[in-house]
Amino acid sequence: MNKKENVSSKGLTETNVSSQELQDPAPRDHVTVGRRSFIRGLGIVGATLLPASALLMRQAKAQQPSSGRLTRGDADLLRFAAWAELVESDLWTQYNELGGATKPNDGPFNVGNPPYKLALQNLDGDMPQYITDNNDDELSHAAFLNAYLSSHGAEPVNLDQFRHLPGSTATGVDKQKIGKRLTNLLNLNVDLSWYIRYRGEENPDLGAIFKGPFSILNEPAIPLNDTDTPPTITVPPPPIPPAAQRIQAIANTAGFHFAFIEQGGTSLYPTLALKATSDEVLRILLSIGGVEIDHFSLWHDKAGNAVSQPLAGVIDPENPNGATFPDLNDPATLARLQLHLELTQTNKILPEPCDFLFRESLPPCSVIRPTSTALGGAVATVKSFTADGLFNGQPQSFFDFAMQLATAADNAQRQL
Ligand SMILES: [Fe+2]
Ligand SMILES: [Fe+2]
Repeated sequence: MNKKENVSSKGLTETNVSSQELQDPAPRDHVTVGRRSFIRGLGIVGATLLPASALLMRQAKAQQPSSGRLTRGDADLLRFAAWAELVESDLWTQYNELGGATKPNDGPFNVGNPPYKLALQNLDGDMPQYITDNNDDELSHAAFLNAYLSSHGAEPVNLDQFRHLPGSTATGVDKQKIGKRLTNLLNLNVDLSWYIRYRGEENPDLGAIFKGPFSILNEPAIPLNDTDTPPTITVPPPPIPPAAQRIQAIANTAGFHFAFIEQGGTSLYPTLALKATSDEVLRILLSIGGVEIDHFSLWHDKAGNAVSQPLAGVIDPENPNGATFPDLNDPATLARLQLHLELTQTNKILPEPCDFLFRESLPPCSVIRPTSTALGGAVATVKSFTADGLFNGQPQSFFDFAMQLATAADNAQRQL
């Protein structure tokens, strides 16, 4: 849903927003009812109305996790998934502190960084809520996977010794976490090849190579500090004035980075699932992996709003060669970039059918891609996140540990 549709479909929440309210995120976020609070409340009513369903739910809750030890391969698969989820949790926590609607898990309203939140809302009015929910999902994935490993006698993953990166000092960050970050969002090279890959008819697993429609290089995805982007900056809806171009470019970078991260998870989980031995581990990998796909699809849509009207054309004045967001629906722009609308149209966010399994002998199929271990597996994920700049500042021991877990996961074999 783009921003225009959002305004017309959200009734009292989003209509008739004054320019003053647009400067103050509080009125827009205040009315949001946390989905988990709402569902919990609904659950009480539902139990009264639907006793049979409630009974089934209680029975399901009463069941304990399966006992018994995991195969070595299954433990390796889940350990790498836990590593990836801890990484995701750390980066999403940073995004949520600065741009989220509430504190984690339906906590209190989050003031965050007001200009950053407003710039994110130029991509979609619901961005703060989506960020919070994505963060909650990752926290739950990491906690569940480690708890499952422990409950089956396998070693969980702990990355606490690597929580030492500086992070942002801008208004909105959790001051207690400054200097204690696992991931670095301050200087990213965002690989945008997924944007063309999902619109193309060829499959990277069959040799196709894709390049992004433009580049995001050496650009922060969160405000760096209050000097670079003072919290008093006015961020109106588009057109974006010169004084707000920097913070809008940072928010646009975040929009594309969200999609980059989640498409990584979208490919990773199928590659892990293909190696699972136990039905329960397979179920875990498929069920969490499905949520990563859900995230990717959402962010793919939101990122497109940065490169379509009325927002397209933002240039970071501090980094014009690294963060310029063209209009990917404009024929003249596309001619200049030597691109075709078929491969850039911003609302074509659902996967185009492509070659799958065998190039010539079967019809095209709409699928996740890549799903090969070589291109979408654990080692490929570590390499891709590293090239992104996400771990800039981490010591060699961090990469050694990541590659050890990733290699073990990629080498896991299904035992039937
Ligand atoms: Fe996740
Ligand atoms: Fe994710």
